Amino acid sequence: MDIDDAINFEDLRLLAKRRLPKICYDFIEGGADDEIGLDRNQQAFRDLPLIPRYLVNVDKRDLTKELFGRKYDLPYGISPTGLAGMFRVGGDMMLAQAARDANIPFVMSGSSTASIEDLGKLAPEHGWYQLYAARDKSVSEDMIRRADAAGLGALVLTVDVPVHSNRERNVRNRFGRPVRLSLATKLDALSYPGWLYEYLKGGLPMFPNWLPYAGEGADADEVADFMASMTTPPLTWDDVARFREIWPRKFILKGIMHPDDAIKAAELGCDGIVVSNHGARQLDRAPASIEVLPAIAAAVGNRMTIMLDSGIRRGSDIATALCLGADFVFVGRATLYGVTAGGTAGATKAIEILRRELDLVMGQIGVADLASLNESFIFKG
Ligand code: FNR
Repeated sequence: MDIDDAINFEDLRLLAKRRLPKICYDFIEGGADDEIGLDRNQQAFRDLPLIPRYLVNVDKRDLTKELFGRKYDLPYGISPTGLAGMFRVGGDMMLAQAARDANIPFVMSGSSTASIEDLGKLAPEHGWYQLYAARDKSVSEDMIRRADAAGLGALVLTVDVPVHSNRERNVRNRFGRPVRLSLATKLDALSYPGWLYEYLKGGLPMFPNWLPYAGEGADADEVADFMASMTTPPLTWDDVARFREIWPRKFILKGIMHPDDAIKAAELGCDGIVVSNHGARQLDRAPASIEVLPAIAAAVGNRMTIMLDSGIRRGSDIATALCLGADFVFVGRATLYGVTAGGTAGATKAIEILRRELDLVMGQIGVADLASLNESFIFKG
């Protein structure tokens, strides 16, 4: 099978797995602790059947969606995923390119292997920046200034990494700082010549957004150490208020899971939230984001834009989230597996697979446009 033959998320996952050394694949796929959350994220969608309504004209289906005053071709975008360049050299910009081609938003990760300025040049209309706040406040403020200068449309502050999580696959594979790869890991990498060739040619991935602050002439390793020393600062609502004040465009909190936090975000002037459990990579015992969505939508749905990610594998998952109050959704692993397996074409394939599935499920349940999706399509037993 190659990327042209992929027909669903699972195919993309297997193709990416085939191309990547175990240490990389485990980093993408893994969750925290017992990885209960990974299953829960998908099971929660499966536990919400969709009730079809028939005898509706669904000959033409409209998947376009307006978000923050801009019309996108699809109601989903690409979540920030760090280190993309380690899985496919140039991966971040390939994702941005695929998003631009599909006319959907792309969120550049705070631990991206491409720069804010690259994104500003390639896809200012579709690019957003996800901020990982730094211990040195002037670093965060300068990143915000750069994202503004690059013309990016939204700033996404990730709030769900107060401390690093326990990802046991990474611990066993010794994925982390400082890099101390075991012989087994090195030997395993030798079995993936396609990846190894690209990786050796491309060199150690750099975090260019952190480079200016890491000290004159810092190499990739030193920048990575600097970033590690700066991240997971104490982050509070005061910081949210300060970032809100200095960022001039749309301001979004990512990782909100409680209605009271959503209310607080609205009070502080945030334009939107991403209801997310970080793809089950932070708190393993967190509920699925789709489980907490209805209460959050009830609390703030009329005051701010509600987005959701975590566990989306099928177009039907997207439809379900839109039925339960999300205005828009995002995917992380789907497009990351796509770009890993097939570069820009692979990312485009991931977007296309979801488009086709969403289009079909809309036809199946009897809705011709996204505005018609609502809670009445969800079977509650
Ligand atoms: C992530 N995620 C993430 N989130 C974030 O705010 N900043 C980041 O740098 C990253 N990095 C990252 C790397 C990888 C490999 C993955 C898989 C995920 C979380 C991401 O934005 C999103 O919340 C989840 O991926 C959504 O879940 P699904 O779609 O992967 O199930």
